[in-house]
Amino acid sequence: MNNPESNKTYTPKQALVPTPQLYDELVGDCMENLAKVTIAGMVPTDSNSVFLDIGCGTGAGTAEIVAHVGDTHSLIIKGVDIDKQALEVYRQKVAEYNWPAEAIKGDAHDLPLTDSTFSHAIGTAFLFVLPNDGVPAVKEIYRVLKPGGVAAFNSWAYVPNMQPIQIAANLTRPEGTPLPRGGMDKWENPDLLRRVLEEGGFDEDKITLTKVEVQATTTTIDRYASMLWSFIGGTSAAGWLDSDEFKWDEAIKIIKQELSKSDGYKELEGGKLQLKFIANIAIAIK
Ligand SMILES: C[S@@+](CC[C@H](N)C(=O)[O-])C[C@H]1O[C@@H](n2cnc3c(N)ncnc32)[C@H](O)[C@@H]1O
Repeated sequence: MNNPESNKTYTPKQALVPTPQLYDELVGDCMENLAKVTIAGMVPTDSNSVFLDIGCGTGAGTAEIVAHVGDTHSLIIKGVDIDKQALEVYRQKVAEYNWPAEAIKGDAHDLPLTDSTFSHAIGTAFLFVLPNDGVPAVKEIYRVLKPGGVAAFNSWAYVPNMQPIQIAANLTRPEGTPLPRGGMDKWENPDLLRRVLEEGGFDEDKITLTKVEVQATTTTIDRYASMLWSFIGGTSAAGWLDSDEFKWDEAIKIIKQELSKSDGYKELEGGKLQLKFIANIAIAIK
């Protein structure tokens, strides 16, 4: 669920297990709010739409498709993901919220779906977790879209939580240790999103890019910092280090300090956090 670059099995005793449930708690309403602003650009959407939610995870995109379309009478959604555990949570939500959706286990690089099937496709918080910047996956998504079909993707132009993690990693690990999620900052530039969609098959004049602010509400700073470090701290090619266990509290303290300096950081009544993110949104028509 957290895309580790190493196969090392060691984890510090304080690290929370990176389950889909932990992911949902960590992101709070951020992924749903990201999906909401992404889908908002996908007009027209009507109740006869056939949606692909690719890399659907635990269902943030699907929840917003349903909310956006409103009348779900003849709406069809296929949620595809490679992660079995995430799909289990997705299926529970399908049952709980009565979504007109089916969970399909599949790889975005070889979709188990027929050509020209979907009127819409959404890949939210998706391309940047894939190899080759997601180009092969975009080719597959292009293949299964109908001519005239609309696809929406996003990347982060600004996140408040990556720098704190990387500062904590730098200050608590030996010099030269690879940084967790190093190299993600290339996605800040919307030109990368445009290039990936063009290489995936979309015409350059049928791609629209915008930048949108996304507010997220999550838990208390103590819980947030501990979830964040647990989820991301061990994901570089170096994995977790033995020293991370006795440096755990120091890393958490640094994350809290750095996070509280981030643009848009707010502690709400009751102790919850509000964080500001900025997304690049791309809408492309086949
Ligand atoms: C950051 S999560 C985003 C999940 C969801 N779209 C959301 O907005 O919360 C990325 C998702 O992509 C899935 N994923 C990664 N590689 C994939 C692949 N090759 N094919 C399908 N899904 C993949 C992961 O399992 C994960 O659920």
